Amino acid sequence: MAQVMMGSEVAKDLRRGIAEQIDRLKAQGRRLPRLAVVLVGDNPASLSYVRGKEKACAEVGMASLMIHLPSSTTQAQLMEQIRQLNQDATVDGILCQLPLPEGLDERQVIQEIAVDKDVDGFHPVNVGKLHLKEDGFVPCTPLGCMELLHRMGVDPAGKRAVVIGRSNLVGAPVARLLLNENATVTICHSKTADLPAVCRQADILIAAVGRAKMITSDYIKEGAAVIDVGINRTEEGRLTGDVDFDSAVEKAGWITPVPKGVGPMTIAMLLKNTMKAYYGHEGEQK
Ligand code: GUN
Repeated sequence: MAQVMMGSEVAKDLRRGIAEQIDRLKAQGRRLPRLAVVLVGDNPASLSYVRGKEKACAEVGMASLMIHLPSSTTQAQLMEQIRQLNQDATVDGILCQLPLPEGLDERQVIQEIAVDKDVDGFHPVNVGKLHLKEDGFVPCTPLGCMELLHRMGVDPAGKRAVVIGRSNLVGAPVARLLLNENATVTICHSKTADLPAVCRQADILIAAVGRAKMITSDYIKEGAAVIDVGINRTEEGRLTGDVDFDSAVEKAGWITPVPKGVGPMTIAMLLKNTMKAYYGHEGEQK
């Protein structure tokens, strides 16, 4: 029977640490870190994510700036908005909520964000830095997965890690982070032959496929650390992961639930990245 790693608890712990740092800055009368979040249009899921980010900033005492633009916003207007935030010395981090409405070019927008304010870690320069093992911004969800592994006491060095999913947002960067910590990494995708057999080799299994309850105990090696990145809605409207928790919990050594697993870690890591951007702007290495 697996031990369950509650991301919600770890995230609370991380937020407490950040709140303490911000309290100290306040006591010293210093400028406070500030995150700008840009939302274009009214996608309900995006609206709810953005509100979650705003609430998390407020809870730790971080300043935030929410910019809600109409879905009729043009590419030129959005680019101009990003440039304004790049120039604004009171803004440390810039996040443009994805996906953008049809007709807007995400790639162009991501490339416009200043590298030192790219708290999502999506800018090609930061992607390159991750691959070169240079200091830069790393995407929040992969960072959250690694933090959970560390809290499980799992050291990736020498272990077999299997990542299911190869997206720029999660699969590719988490695979690279695992490799950087000396795991032997396999990345699986829709064309992978005999996926269960590959997954059964994994000491560390990261599921980022986007298919509800696909990963049953048949995919899991006895005692493996299983991290479920999936957020899927069932027909009844409930949130469920990519892992069939009830079956997997019997075989894994460690497992993260959905909800209250990786999800809360993503926001905690966004706050952490914004602190890093702030210290960089203040000329302090942290
Ligand atoms: N949409 C879903 N996840 C993310 C994320 O981590 N960052 C941004 N900017 N948009 C998202």
